[in-house]
Amino acid sequence: MKLKKGILLRQFQERDKAAFLKLANQYFKQENHLRGEDIPSLLWSNPEQQFFQNSSFNPFTDIFLVDGPGNDIGFACYLTEHYLQRAIGYLFLHPSWRHQGIGRLLLQELEREVARKGLKYLHFCLPERNKAGQFFLAENGYHPVRRFLELTLDLTDNQKAKRLVQPLPDNLGLTHFKPGDEAGLVALQNKVFLGSWGFNPNNEAEIKYYLNLMKARLEEVLVLYNGSQPIGYLWPHYLWTAQPVRARIHMFGLLREWRRRGWGKILFEAGLNVLRQRGVLRVDLVVDETNRPAVKLYQRQGFVLKTKLNWWEKDLESSPGFLLSWKNN
Ligand SMILES: CC(C)(COP(=O)(O)OP(=O)(O)OC[C@H]1O[C@@H](n2cnc3c(N)ncnc32)[C@H](O)[C@@H]1OP(=O)(O)O)[C@@H](O)C(=O)NCCC(=O)NCCS
Repeated sequence: MKLKKGILLRQFQERDKAAFLKLANQYFKQENHLRGEDIPSLLWSNPEQQFFQNSSFNPFTDIFLVDGPGNDIGFACYLTEHYLQRAIGYLFLHPSWRHQGIGRLLLQELEREVARKGLKYLHFCLPERNKAGQFFLAENGYHPVRRFLELTLDLTDNQKAKRLVQPLPDNLGLTHFKPGDEAGLVALQNKVFLGSWGFNPNNEAEIKYYLNLMKARLEEVLVLYNGSQPIGYLWPHYLWTAQPVRARIHMFGLLREWRRRGWGKILFEAGLNVLRQRGVLRVDLVVDETNRPAVKLYQRQGFVLKTKLNWWEKDLESSPGFLLSWKNN
């Protein structure tokens, strides 16, 4: 698409990779800053891995770039989650190119492409501090659908972080996943989280992709057994610096039928103790604000609010007709 002043919107070509990665890094830097993050999460800071190693990602259809006096003006791209009929969008314009209508045109290109893929929703996740981004989305027909809370716990603060070492009831066992048992983790994770908002069921390849993104090993995932049945797990994500001073809880949950017996709390406290033993000083996690059981559990452990993250949605099927006509082409 040709714009004023010799500006052009176009899809990604092989030669654009370095320029795209540079822009995507700027995007992640901005988002991390707005989240008040000093050590970026490995999970959301490595566009090379996050996009190019994701099996659902096709750079040639899923990235749009702004071409003009330079190739470092801006981009829009998305990751697809077919089970949820959604794409998660990312959009970034270099500050000197904002307020000229380019962002809106990039967004429209992205929406057309997502609709053409047969996906119903386009979602964006923005830190609440990103006021400009949220204003932009609201102006373009998006509305907030969920709020996630980013919580943090100082593990050196013994007042808040109680050093609980609760003995396990006799029927329960706690161990780590065995190397190569990605299938075990997939089965457990899909059962625990199926139906949770924003959870797209995983397969083994995706579990490997996430472990790889986090530079993590399957053996770091704690599993809670009832007899011989795995009933819950806690998946930590270490943010390696000089030593593992920071961590996130990437995933944590119990099978539905084993909840409300105090076992989630036992697993969580055991997980925190593992982190302490590994020298972690601060731990973060993200939770859906409507997930009462989890929010309450974390608050009781002393977690406090760090940032709010808002999910914005557009239902492309009920948006103006041109999107549908693109879909049918
Ligand atoms: C979050 C989860 C792991 C809690 O496990 P659980 O075994 O049910 O929790 P416990 O029985 O150990 O309860 C521990 C504390 O959690 C809170 N809690 C648990 N269930 C709750 C409920 N239904 N309503 C409100 N608070 C609840 C309480 O603070 C409770 O302490 P209390 O009993 O002293 O009040 C479980 O609900 C789960 O697996 N949910 C689905 C996965 C998920 O959402 N994970 C969190 C992702 S961020």
